[in-house]
Amino acid sequence: MGTADSSADPADFPVPAPLSSHGPARVIAMCNQKGGVGKTTTTINLGAALAEYGRKVLLVDFDPQGAASAGLGINAHELDRTIYNLLMEPRADVREIIRPTEVDNLDLAPANIDLSAAEVQLVSEVAREQALARVLRPVLDDYDVILIDCQPSLGLLTVNALTAAHGVLIPLEAEFFALRGVALLVESIERVQERINPRLRIDGILATMVDMRTLHSREVLDRVREAFGEKVFKTKISRTVKFPDASVATEPITTYAPTHSGAEAYRRLARELIARGDAA
Ligand SMILES: Nc1ncnc2c1ncn2[C@@H]1O[C@H](COP(=O)(O)OP(=O)(O)OP(=O)(O)O)[C@@H](O)[C@H]1O
Ligand SMILES: [Mg+2]
Repeated sequence: MGTADSSADPADFPVPAPLSSHGPARVIAMCNQKGGVGKTTTTINLGAALAEYGRKVLLVDFDPQGAASAGLGINAHELDRTIYNLLMEPRADVREIIRPTEVDNLDLAPANIDLSAAEVQLVSEVAREQALARVLRPVLDDYDVILIDCQPSLGLLTVNALTAAHGVLIPLEAEFFALRGVALLVESIERVQERINPRLRIDGILATMVDMRTLHSREVLDRVREAFGEKVFKTKISRTVKFPDASVATEPITTYAPTHSGAEAYRRLARELIARGDAA
């Protein structure tokens, strides 16, 4: 039977060729209204892995908790201007808040608790679902991939992320009740697709926190595959304390523990995404 190492056969997906030019970006929203399933961890580490392959990557922290910002060592709570201000000021330029990270090719648009007000304030705006798409438009040509780290909710902020996105990546914790709520998420995605953003598609379901030594994890994975078939990424992310360790160290796992199987798993996910044509 399988091993806990999600990078068991790296040959599955070829190392992508370097890009000779950059953009336009494919925008991917990391979405699941269930909390603590690995959205932020996937945003940071998939982003860092794509950047290692020479892709120019922008991470958009779109959670008032600011976990993606914190996980990359940016103390967003001290910032006066974040993604929140951009949503509320149609004339402001997002480049004003974008900052480089310690990782080459990896930039961040930070968020902090201010963003929690946007959910209410946007309600009365014209084209309230399109605010994030408008904010990102000027930088689409500067990046190959833009990853949006959503908060655990299906509210207006998440609808904004789905409206700005080409694809949705759904991290799913490999535990028994993981599938609860996914039907509702898929319904929300379909609603945005029908009404606002016809190009939107589900790129894939990513099993996270997998422990292949347990029958439980294997059963959950089987059920997820039954339900979603080809939409489930072949790459799985194992459960390992190296992920919380890396976020305490405010680094992606790819630099914190570059040879660890967790780092290799996110590199493999990056290769799989590129091989599927869901990223350049
Ligand atoms: N594969 C993994 N193995 C072990 N721990 C993990 C793994 N992935 C994430 N974690 C840890 O689990 C916690 C939740 O992960 P994360 O913050 O990425 O989830 P999230 O979906 O973004 O949560 P929220 O809904 O609160 O935004 C974090 O402490 C993180 O370090
Ligand atoms: Mg998060």
